[in-house]
Amino acid sequence: MTTLRLPGLIDVHVHLREPGAEYKEDFESGSRAALAGGFTMVLAMPNTQPPLIDAASLKIAEDAASAKALCDYGFHLGASGSNVETAAALAQRVCGLKMYLDATYGPLLIQDLATLREHFARWPKDRPILCHAEERTLAAVLMVAHLERRSVHICHVSRKAEIELIRDAKMHGIDVTCEVTPHHLFIVQEDVPRFLSPGRSQVRPSLATRADQQALWDNMEFIDCIATDHAPHTLAEKDGNAPPPGFPGLETALALMLTRVHAGNIELDAVTARMVDNPRRIFGLPEQPETWIEVDPDATWTVRNEEVVSRCGWSPFAGSVLRGRVQSVTLRGECVYRGGQFFVKAGTGRNVAPAYR
Ligand code: DOR
Ligand code: ZN
Ligand code: ZN
Repeated sequence: MTTLRLPGLIDVHVHLREPGAEYKEDFESGSRAALAGGFTMVLAMPNTQPPLIDAASLKIAEDAASAKALCDYGFHLGASGSNVETAAALAQRVCGLKMYLDATYGPLLIQDLATLREHFARWPKDRPILCHAEERTLAAVLMVAHLERRSVHICHVSRKAEIELIRDAKMHGIDVTCEVTPHHLFIVQEDVPRFLSPGRSQVRPSLATRADQQALWDNMEFIDCIATDHAPHTLAEKDGNAPPPGFPGLETALALMLTRVHAGNIELDAVTARMVDNPRRIFGLPEQPETWIEVDPDATWTVRNEEVVSRCGWSPFAGSVLRGRVQSVTLRGECVYRGGQFFVKAGTGRNVAPAYR
């Protein structure tokens, strides 16, 4: 058996549901799922209840994470119509400003161009802005970033037209980075009826066509990060009348990518660049000393809902046979995970935002 030693993975886009929906996930269950998937640092999204848009809501989330998280973490502040003037003062307590510019799950949505521009003008130029911006919204965001002379990071790119626009923007010197999710790299809409019910397949951005998916693989050199958009909802919700959009992804992301490394579709170095080095550089995240994961690149395993660590208890990849599995995780010199067992207490994780370093 060969063992690969890789740096701890960084996921810049997860939904850990605390505060407000701990029955789906909380910092403890979500960070367990992270460790099981080889992630030692996760950045949590602000579309919680309450949403993380001011000092008070951020404090609630910070306190919960500080008491419960098993791996290192940070937050993204939510942009809203109400915090245009106050958001920037919180920039050192978070890892980025998240702007929801197209409809998705949760209460945060900015629809008018003036508010979008105002946030871009006021948020510190050296701190990241992340956007949920699909299709034409993406073009608007690139224009605003260019005019404000600042960088922008585009979340979960899923369409051919989008990745081609980002490619061309990069070639024109626009300061844009982007991430793609494993689910958009691996699942296309036309395959869904064979293995996922309509409710379970709901996700934003929605699953795309084979041509869209191929364009993501073809433009891998323009994709900076693989980020899971881990978005746990319970099976009862996914199978109910109004299925919320979202897939859990922390536990399967690396194995999916390693399966493609094995198939010869991507180099291992290209995977770690997108799951460690680029996330760290783009979000200005600290090194984690004496932190690594051990992976058996040849281990084949079947994803099973019953074995999912995330509280949501299911995976859109259930039934898939993957190649490559995390055997152990070492965080700051301590073995915190080995062979499905956790050896770490709640509260071990540290906040990686500048204010807390
Ligand atoms: O499918 C999604 N679920 N897309 C998003 O943008 C939000 C996420 C969630 O929070 O559930
Ligand atoms: Zn999103
Ligand atoms: Zn998301």
